This record gives sequence, C-alpha cells and structure tokens, in this order.
Amino acid sequence: MFLVVANWKMNGNAKLAEQFNASLKTNPKAEAVICPPFHLINSIKGKRGAQNCHHSHDGAHTGEISVHMLKELGAKYVILGHSERREAGETSAQVARKAEAALKAGLKVILCIGEKEGEDIDVVVAEQLKASLPGSKDNITIAYEPVWAIGSGRTPSHKEIEEAHALINRLSGLKVIYGGSVKAENAGEISRIKGVNGLLVGGASLDINSFNAIITAI
Ligand code: PGA
Repeated sequence: MFLVVANWKMNGNAKLAEQFNASLKTNPKAEAVICPPFHLINSIKGKRGAQNCHHSHDGAHTGEISVHMLKELGAKYVILGHSERREAGETSAQVARKAEAALKAGLKVILCIGEKEGEDIDVVVAEQLKASLPGSKDNITIAYEPVWAIGSGRTPSHKEIEEAHALINRLSGLKVIYGGSVKAENAGEISRIKGVNGLLVGGASLDINSFNAIITAI
C-alpha cells in the first residue's frame, strides 16, 4: 500500500488533531499515518506514529520516550533519523539502536536518509544505510529526503528521484518513500514516479485541506 506520512514536527495542537479526526479523507490506494508531537499521538483517531524514540525500555533518561510508551499511546509507526535530528547530533549508530528497539516492540520504522546540498548522494546514502539499519530489516521503510529539499519548496527532478529510489532499493532491498517539499501540486506526479512507494509530508501536513489534497492526488 502507498504510504502517506504526515510529519507535524514541533507543530500542531489539539484543534488540528480534531480537524484531522473529523475530516481526513480516505483513498483506497493510500494509507495515511499521522505523526504529531508526542502529547497528541493518542488524540489522533486514525493510524498514528511518533517522530522519535529512545532505545532503552525505561530508566533515567530525562525528556525521552520509550517505544513501550509510544505503544501505550497507540502509535504503530515511528520516524527515525530525520535530518533535523541528525543535524542536532543524532548519529546513525543511535538511529540503528532506536530502530532495533522499535522493531522489537512491534512498531514499524520509517528511517530517513538523504544527502545535503553538494554532497555525493551515492556515498551519503550508502554510508547512512550501512550505519543506520539494524540487523533485522522487517517492517522498515526508508524515507529518501534530500536535506536541501526539506521545507525549501525545491524538489529533485523526477529522474533524480527515480534514480535515488532505485539506488536505495538496490542497496537495502527496502521500499522507499519520498520526502522534501511535497505538496498538493506535486504529490500526484511524484507518487507516479517508478520506485516511489509513499510520501513523507512536513509543512503541507499542517493543514487538513492541503493534506487531503495530497491524499486524493495519489
Ligand atoms: P517538508 O518536510 O514537507 O516541509 O519539506 C518534509 C520532512 O522534513 O519530513
């Protein structure tokens, strides 16, 4: 099933959650997963996910949240290794430990990778996959997000997206979704590129109408 993931980042409130609950459109071709900040996860009626987790079961880790706590909130998915977290110091080794804990707890993992502007995509993607993937790969989907496309309004060409997804699939054997400036206007065309198995949507998921337009464009 084509996956459409809403990553609210550190945005949204109870009112937005209510709007999603009241008006989220369905599309038989697409599965929507809403990933709000932690405190709103169990306010979402549909498929829910988180944007991070800790690798430990419990313990003295102030401000962190474990996979078991996410499961208590009804989360089915967790986004890991987002470039905004990597930028804040999260390493691929940490991402791998988190992914292992999440999979063990029965959560599905959306593992983000992608090159910065000017970096060699082949090198970065291979390195990040090698170091971020845990031993077991069941229930992992890779999100290819070129860092320069996130929140910038710029996207790679269709050919570049197709090539990047083919490369990642060849290296990992995993399904790949695309993220970076996806909006209602480009969601349909991007979703039809060969090897694109879903979309990870940031800014355009903060408004129910624009997210619905993405869902229905698939
Ligand atoms: P964007 O963010 O859609 O606002 O570019 C995507 C993401 O960071 O996952």
